[in-house]
Amino acid sequence: MSPKILQPTSANIADCAEILRGGGLVAFPTETVYGLGADATNEQAVAGIYAAKGRPRFNPLIAHVAPGMEIDEFVVVDARARTLMEMYWPGPLTLVLKRTPNSPLTLLSSAGLDSQAIRCPSHEIAQSLLVLAGRPIAAPSANRSGGVSPTTPVHVVESLDVAGLPVLAGGKCTVGLESTVLDLSEREPVLLRHGAILKEELEDVLGVIRDSLVDENHPKSPGQLLRHYAPSLPIRLNADDVRDGEALIGFGPVLGLEHKATEVFNLSETGDLVQAAANLFAALRALDNGKSKGIAVMPVPNVGLGVAINDRLHRAATDSGQSGPHM
Ligand code: TXA
Ligand code: MG
Repeated sequence: MSPKILQPTSANIADCAEILRGGGLVAFPTETVYGLGADATNEQAVAGIYAAKGRPRFNPLIAHVAPGMEIDEFVVVDARARTLMEMYWPGPLTLVLKRTPNSPLTLLSSAGLDSQAIRCPSHEIAQSLLVLAGRPIAAPSANRSGGVSPTTPVHVVESLDVAGLPVLAGGKCTVGLESTVLDLSEREPVLLRHGAILKEELEDVLGVIRDSLVDENHPKSPGQLLRHYAPSLPIRLNADDVRDGEALIGFGPVLGLEHKATEVFNLSETGDLVQAAANLFAALRALDNGKSKGIAVMPVPNVGLGVAINDRLHRAATDSGQSGPHM
């Protein structure tokens, strides 16, 4: 038995909220990627997430909250966090904040750290589910450890071999890349993951932000480690040609390269970065099907959302074609 896809009717959403309240797992859509949720205040339930993902070790998870939920009980919200929450929540911005001394969030959800990642998603179905669950929901991306983040319900079913897992269907994720992660647990703000809320936008509010992704000496977020996103095929970035047996990930006009490629997946024919982000994980997944020897990826401009896209592509290329345990 595999996971089961549920249409997002009120009755199904209510059932899923009950499952969460009872300590079970539910996969649900957000605007970024699908999440695999569990009650963030229930140690046993959160442990179930790690088991379902087959994670070789504990990664700290994001606690998802409904709009307007009071979070001061869980984490320390300072003026910087308050301002960003007012500007960007609900939306694809995760804040890493200090846990309160008696935070009811499980230590497992922050993997034993004294900080906790938290975000309020903008997806309507996610919000309904969170409201009905009435508590914060810990949720990593709903894929097996080391896999590509799912952006459709079918991806979740393909990626997680969990019998009977309810997957609330919410269509294709509009953002398609995981949320921006900003660490505000210390004095100095640190960007831990690029996403749809751009570093420049955050710097307009906070001033200069250190980018941990260019400071590899101090990796803090396991998600930023290079070995993370991992299709099984070798990936070649910034390709201006296609080699024998390669599939092509296009961006903008592919200029005749389609004839040389085993298959083509164009992220955006018009060269639109937002559309490309939304299609990225589906492209990696679709081409990783055994029909090709590798994947050539056309250059994506490193501006705006292109920075986050290139970050994910770079990780995919670093880890691609390898097997064995990885995050
Ligand atoms: O868009 C998203 O953020 C999706 C959807 C489902 O909300 N979730 C997601 O979760 O991408 P996950 O577990 O795949 O990634 C969470 C990231 C990881 O890079 C993790 O290391 C980082 O956030 N993180 C979580 N808690 C942290 C903490 N206390 N300190 C530092 N990094 C943390
Ligand atoms: Mg993930």
